[in-house]
Amino acid sequence: MNTDPRPTVYIETYGCQMNVSDTELMLGKLTASGYESVEKPDGADVILINTCAIRDHAEQRVIGRLGELKSKMKREAVLGVTGCMAQRLGSQLLDRVKHVSLVIGPDGYRELPSLIESARAGVRATSVEFDLEEHYEDFTPRRFDGVKAWIPVQRGCDYKCTYCIVPTTRGPERSRQLAEVIRETESAVASGISEVVLLGQTVNSYHDGTNDFADLLRAVGAVPGIRRLRFTSPHPNDFSDRVIRAMAEIEAFCEHVHLPMQSGSTRTLRRMLRRYTREQYLDCVDRLRAAIPNVSLTTDIIVGFPGETEDDFEETLSAVRTIGFEDAYTFKFSMRDGTPATRFPASDRVTDEVASDRLARLIATVRGANRERNMGLLGARREVLVEKPARRGGLLQSRTRDFKTVMIPGDLSLIGKYLQVELTGTTGSTFLGQIVAQRASLPMAG
Ligand code: 5AD
Ligand code: SF4
Repeated sequence: MNTDPRPTVYIETYGCQMNVSDTELMLGKLTASGYESVEKPDGADVILINTCAIRDHAEQRVIGRLGELKSKMKREAVLGVTGCMAQRLGSQLLDRVKHVSLVIGPDGYRELPSLIESARAGVRATSVEFDLEEHYEDFTPRRFDGVKAWIPVQRGCDYKCTYCIVPTTRGPERSRQLAEVIRETESAVASGISEVVLLGQTVNSYHDGTNDFADLLRAVGAVPGIRRLRFTSPHPNDFSDRVIRAMAEIEAFCEHVHLPMQSGSTRTLRRMLRRYTREQYLDCVDRLRAAIPNVSLTTDIIVGFPGETEDDFEETLSAVRTIGFEDAYTFKFSMRDGTPATRFPASDRVTDEVASDRLARLIATVRGANRERNMGLLGARREVLVEKPARRGGLLQSRTRDFKTVMIPGDLSLIGKYLQVELTGTTGSTFLGQIVAQRASLPMAG
């Protein structure tokens, strides 16, 4: 018999790491308010779907999932939609999906317990106000990951890239106070975590009124117990010399930067309002590489942006070849209502057929170069941090400082440990490794 009177809550997360971090904050808040977190929607008293709005496909998945949940959930359960799609659609979602009773945008999570209470009494509600002060400082995140901590340092975005819905769904940019970020880092370390990933939409534009991103990196990197420090995602224009110098000098800073390029064509970049040219992007790459030897670079690229010609696309391919990204997340442009890109003339649209063809060629270019580079790394040794069980083969998934994924044999007790491995095989993108030594008590690789 269940003697536990606590109501149960299940949260499903879509989209970026900022959403994962928001889910951790929501779960922290709700468990502190007397809810029990459960891992399945079936039978839960409260179900929240934390959503993404970046591409139409992301929203269609959520609509499909909401339909599926209708037959799974208890009749009296409260179903809420949170995150970017909630912010974008607001009360329209309540009209469209009758079994949804709460719609809460990214700045509304403080009200979760009271809104859920009302919803359980039958009151449907929408909360989509921005709150420029909101950083949820008094929430204690309930972390899913025991190895690395996602720490938000900035919310919102002040760039207005013409394709992007994020400034609409997450509001204006604001930074947390440095002292709060340090407090959270120290508490993550106290729970056994040694890797932190600082999160922000344009994280390197961080400024809390007194400290810039370089100050923040140095302060987090100096927290005793931090062995790996990363951040995502930066904007190329916000890499001041100060920031790059800090990255180069901080021992814990890992030699990997995710540097969204979006396009290799200056003409397209201009229409995207990315605020840099191809040459300026290449210059940013050069500055990072000069300061941080062997830094690995990954990127985001959009194909089929309105007005993108075959020549523009060729420039993207050539930038990919010249730079030699370790990996690229590639997307077909998706038109989002409310973004400036909707105002380009219809004649600028790139057909789906052309966009699909470009995407396939881009992926082939990225993969071909990776395979070659990764084959060349076989036999090399690297320090890895063991993250979690791999999805297949009874192996463990681990990561090098420069962000390569290495599958290794071993039991679950190795999770969270630093090991020295030899790279023995590659699928082209990920590696297989053999453990050479356990490094837990050795000094950090620098
Ligand atoms: N269509 C396709 N891709 C997009 N991204 C952002 N907005 C869109 C859009 N409308 C991509 C960008 C961004 C990544 C998170 O998603 O590449 O860096
Ligand atoms: Fe979107 Fe541009 Fe902001 Fe990134 S920087 S979230 S791409 S508007």
